[in-house]
Amino acid sequence: MRLVFLGAPGVGKGTQADRVTAQFGWPKISTGDLLREAVRKQTPLGIEAKKSMDAGKLVPDSVVIGMVREKLGEPLCQNGFILDGFPRTVPQAEELNRMLADRGVTLDRVINFRVTREDIVKRLSGRRSCPKCHSVFHVDFVAPKISGQCDRCGTALVQRSDDKPETIEARLRVYDEQTSPLMAYYEGKNKLSNLDGAGEMAQVYDRLAKVLVGLGAT
Ligand code: AP5
Repeated sequence: MRLVFLGAPGVGKGTQADRVTAQFGWPKISTGDLLREAVRKQTPLGIEAKKSMDAGKLVPDSVVIGMVREKLGEPLCQNGFILDGFPRTVPQAEELNRMLADRGVTLDRVINFRVTREDIVKRLSGRRSCPKCHSVFHVDFVAPKISGQCDRCGTALVQRSDDKPETIEARLRVYDEQTSPLMAYYEGKNKLSNLDGAGEMAQVYDRLAKVLVGLGAT
């Protein structure tokens, strides 16, 4: 199945995408993870992207489109994928349509996660991430077994530089201005399913799995 996970920063897209990958096998393509990896490796693209990311702004469309095009060409993505954090602008969505049309396929569904702003801020401000294996924790809701250490690979957890209060605000503004128009865009194409992202992760996943099974996922 070919899916897009849409929603404001911190709604839980990445967390739920990992669960879907574990159950159904479609790989997650997270443009945020790909960009952070480029930043960590100090590639020219990473050095340039970091300025936008630290300011809570989007990196240029051409950069992320190139990254996604490369990923979609990988053998692992031929039986489906979950795009997490892409598209984020209407031009990105148009380009995605073209990339899929070139391959003779279309998107199956866009899942739009919805959570209150208050919950988003709580989720983002307590998030801790593993810089090595990208596992995600939360100081209150998903605490690691050993404080400050990744359960999966033992690496010291970090707070993302864009999870500071002032950057969270900027990211939410950017979401409202540049990404939220995608809801109407995909609704107009009969591709949108809204999903209540409130409550515990397992509850959200139950709701999501029901939608996917309803779409024919096995
Ligand atoms: P990106 O990494 O994509 O960030 P984002 O969209 O802002 O989303 P997040 O990763 O912050 O949140 P999420 O919804 O995945 O939540 P998560 O599951 O982690 O992008 C970062 C930056 O890269 C952008 O600002 C931009 O600069 C650039 N970028 C990326 N893609 C781009 C694009 N296409 N175009 C241009 N620029 C791009 O959950 C959050 C926390 O909540 C975690 O701690 C988690 O454990 C916890 N949590 C999750 N679910 C629950 C729950 N149900 N209850 C309690 N806690 C929960």
